[in-house]
Amino acid sequence: MKKKILVTGGAGYIGSHVVRQLGAAGYDVVIYDNCSTGSAQAVLHGDLIIGDLADLDTLYRVFFQHQFTAVLHFAASLNVPESVAHPLEYYANNTRNTLNLLRCCSDMGVNQIIFSSTAAVYGQPVTNPVTESTPTEPINPYGRSKLSCEWLIRDYATASSLRYVILRYFNIAGAEPGGRLGQMSKNVSHLIGVACNAALKRQPGIRIFGTDFPTPDGTAIRDYLHVEDLATAHLDALRYLEQGQESQILNCGYGQGYSVRQVIERVKVISGIDFPVIETDRRPGDPACVITSADRIRQVLGWKPKYNDLDLIVYTTLAWEMRQKGAIPNSIAQPKLTTQPKVA
Ligand code: UFG
Repeated sequence: MKKKILVTGGAGYIGSHVVRQLGAAGYDVVIYDNCSTGSAQAVLHGDLIIGDLADLDTLYRVFFQHQFTAVLHFAASLNVPESVAHPLEYYANNTRNTLNLLRCCSDMGVNQIIFSSTAAVYGQPVTNPVTESTPTEPINPYGRSKLSCEWLIRDYATASSLRYVILRYFNIAGAEPGGRLGQMSKNVSHLIGVACNAALKRQPGIRIFGTDFPTPDGTAIRDYLHVEDLATAHLDALRYLEQGQESQILNCGYGQGYSVRQVIERVKVISGIDFPVIETDRRPGDPACVITSADRIRQVLGWKPKYNDLDLIVYTTLAWEMRQKGAIPNSIAQPKLTTQPKVA
């Protein structure tokens, strides 16, 4: 019998990539998503149920109708400034809704969960690389709401047969190389998305938030991870739990950092388009440098990333954005890659 997986938020950016990979791997998938930011078009496999995790009646009905072997929990709010302005909504949508999901898991005997956490739980790390034992000191309601979900899952697992893998994502970008999936959200605010929009002349240029960081070129450094590799980490985590292995918290990133200037430069080179860059003050709360140690996830899950290349991340983002506008991206140069990933 095929294993049946519940994916909350499976119509969203990361969830939809994972759903596609689950389908390719032969899993039966039910997607539960309120489509507030996700889209039914992004669901390339499985059955989509449009519902909210706050609606316990519908959620229980879904659990009654299917015998899930595991839950992958993506559905969440994830905008940091929005979380500062609307903390109650963030604790409701992230923390309370995770509690709802755990109640269903508990009552219906589902004892494997993979949870989408974030590097934001570390706040402003004083040392790099960030390891799983770096203290968690989130500095905004988004990070705190995600950390409180981690505590919920861990406490409940201690008291039950639940086993979990909590993945703490670093900076996710890129799109499925086949061109079918990418970030649908209209209000892209993350660096690679904004830079691609600037290259495609959807905005006049890009601002660099801070040029006085203690980094080689004065701009902030982040660990950018391709969404397809992140999706693969979820399938690895699922197989890991299926083997009966113990719960884990794992950082998910390549362990390699790029500065804001380096990212903008690569977007200009790959797109072949120059655009204005304005240097402005730091954005409040931005740490200078956040890079993970990728040792544990590789060792524990046997995770083998295939898209570890900033140019490929930029290229797939640009290609996706151009396709969204109906333009076939042959005007941009496909990067020469150190490793050529296979498009499934
Ligand atoms: N940046 C600019 N100009 C822009 C956009 C971003 O200079 O137009 C800078 C930011 O100031 C920061 C860097 O680019 O120094 C990366 O910013 P992002 O907004 O792309 O990503 P963050 O590192 O701020 O945050 C991301 C996610 C969070 C998550 C965090 C975990 O957006 O949800 O990674 O590390 F919590």
